[in-house]
Amino acid sequence: MRIRKNAVITAVGGYVPDTVLSNHDLEKMVDTNNEWIVARTGIKERRIVNDPGVATSDLAVRALKRLMSDAGVTPHEIDCVIVSTSTPDYVMVSTGSIVCEKAGLTKAWGIDTNAACSGFLYALTLGASMIESGRCKKVVVIGADKNSSIVNYSDRNTCILFGDGAGAVMLEQTEEPVGLMDSFFRTDGSGKENLIVTAGGSRFPASQQTLDDQLHYVRQDGRVVFKAAIQGMTDTCNEVLQANDLLSSQINYLIPHQANLRIIQSVGDYLGLSGDQVKINIDRYGNTTSATIPLVMWDYKDDFKYGDKIILTAFGAGFSWGATYLKWGRLRKAAQE
Ligand code: UT7
Repeated sequence: MRIRKNAVITAVGGYVPDTVLSNHDLEKMVDTNNEWIVARTGIKERRIVNDPGVATSDLAVRALKRLMSDAGVTPHEIDCVIVSTSTPDYVMVSTGSIVCEKAGLTKAWGIDTNAACSGFLYALTLGASMIESGRCKKVVVIGADKNSSIVNYSDRNTCILFGDGAGAVMLEQTEEPVGLMDSFFRTDGSGKENLIVTAGGSRFPASQQTLDDQLHYVRQDGRVVFKAAIQGMTDTCNEVLQANDLLSSQINYLIPHQANLRIIQSVGDYLGLSGDQVKINIDRYGNTTSATIPLVMWDYKDDFKYGDKIILTAFGAGFSWGATYLKWGRLRKAAQE
């Protein structure tokens, strides 16, 4: 009998900047108030980079270094780093390349992927495929975004939502019945106008006009995205559950992308999950785009036990959305001094 070789998460790391941007701080910047933000989004505060010298790669490196020190993994053991980000350091030169250099990963290759808020899920499946095939032994998947670099802090529709941060996981091969079991992903480019950073790419290269028109900031039609997010996340979670003969009552935890507490709770309700099953940290970090799911893993890793059945789900710009089913394994622990 052929033994299936799964990719399992064996280490987790996370990092958020020290600077807190609270709802009360935002009250002084735009026409909003704490009560509205908490009631409509569930966000109380978010972390942002306040040092202009710090870019997305720096957040990613901090998360990666925590992962390596907690797990007792040395930089030369890692074969590959996939950075999922919508806010790369540069348009050309991958953030993955910079992360490898800054973290001293001399034997790894690094690349970027971008699927906005769904990016970490997609990158996790790409990384898992490289492990399952045997092409790599240790792949690190990082979700990192410095959203403060694309947020217009005079636009109350968006500036209340986003924060900066990074989360990282390491994947390795196992013959045990744990790890990434399945994924179900979708994209629909017709949704692109509803959540977009219009300029800075090849369609609208940076120019005086794009600056004057403020096209380098993120722009969103929140109501359209809100409805599509609930539908898309619920549908793909159901697809994954059905394909794996699972009832939602058999799921230990749902780790949803953290964009809006009302979206998260609606998806949980549609799936018939209890509040304890749904992991949430949006109150502290806001929407960190690619980093939300690994930051939830980082925050709650001590709750997860061997064999726990976990569904990850996300929705974001593109539109892009999906769900992944994984069984939690064992995290490596660095030897105590
Ligand atoms: O991560 C990628 C995916 N992104 C998402 O999933 C985000 C999805 N969308 C959302 O989370 C929500 O749509 C928002 C949080 C962005 C907005 O919440 P909403 O309940 O959809 O509000 P709305 O846009 O329908 O606006 C309701 C009212 C409006 O006033 P009127 O027209 O009813 O008088 C807005 O002008 O709230 C007003 N409003 C605000 N008031 C205070 C909008 N933004 C604010 C604000 N503070 N920051």
